[in-house]
Amino acid sequence: MTTSPRKIIIDTDPGQDDAVAILLALASPEDVEVLAITAVAGNVPLHLTQKNARIVCELAGKPDTLVFSGCHEPIKRPLVTAEHVHGKTGLDGPVMEEPTMALQAQHAVDYIIDTLRAEPTGTVTLCVLGPLTNIATAFKRAPDVVEKVQEIVLMGGAYFEVGNITPTAEFNIYVDPEAAKIVFASGVPIVMMPLDVTHKALTTAPRIDAFRAVGTRPCDMVAEWTDFFERFDIEKYGSQGAPLHDPCVIAYLIKPELFAGRHINVEIETSSDLTLGMTVADWWGVTDRKPNAMFMGDVDADGFFALLTDRISRL
Ligand code: BDR
Ligand code: CA
Repeated sequence: MTTSPRKIIIDTDPGQDDAVAILLALASPEDVEVLAITAVAGNVPLHLTQKNARIVCELAGKPDTLVFSGCHEPIKRPLVTAEHVHGKTGLDGPVMEEPTMALQAQHAVDYIIDTLRAEPTGTVTLCVLGPLTNIATAFKRAPDVVEKVQEIVLMGGAYFEVGNITPTAEFNIYVDPEAAKIVFASGVPIVMMPLDVTHKALTTAPRIDAFRAVGTRPCDMVAEWTDFFERFDIEKYGSQGAPLHDPCVIAYLIKPELFAGRHINVEIETSSDLTLGMTVADWWGVTDRKPNAMFMGDVDADGFFALLTDRISRL
């Protein structure tokens, strides 16, 4: 039996790992139909994330992809960025050409609202690879679209792995905790790829050599991007490579069996200075709070990298 590809909107702040996730999605039309890419401020400011999204679409040979620009700052806090990881452009590493494909004129939040209203209920999945600002703003502005979302699959949060931007918070949730709170309270089915998973998806030398061996430009770029950002992570974690966070979201849509987790309650801390942006995950079921997210905890990392190499080598 063949099933039709799942319709997705990729909401993102590229970022090298976001870029790899976009390549994976654009290389997998039998599994996902990318309706659009919506950029948000996060790893770097918005004028760079929207440009980087277009650079990646052109690299994939898909300049017809719709790219929209969204919110330039979190709902109620100043933007925190991560140039210390991703470099000044967000896509540091290889020199990339300026994109020539157009940026859509409509604001990303308006696009998300209009698309969810136009599509049949439960047929569009939101893949969120950055702070949740665009999604929460859409939900606040148009509460009628919430029930139309099929699922939100997001990279964000951490529990046993605690934090990467503060001792207790993961970057995407920390940057806009109010937005995360709105989304986690929305009632939309959520699948989370927290650091607990992504820290097992490491860019070891053999895995990156496999990309280089393909010999195509997109695969070379993946290898060069990981060469750039893994320096930071190897030094920080003492690991054998860097976590390739965001592609876990797209890989889940293609091969969910690569991941394992628990359906549990996750609440977002928004008031404590010390633990702002923490994803308080009731992994052991010690409260009677209602489960609201599938919190992934494990990944078949070899299977994940095999999928990435196989699919991106098609581009
Ligand atoms: C997340 O933060 C960003 O730096 C990455 O792109 C990823 O989405 C990891 O904490
Ligand atoms: Ca990201």
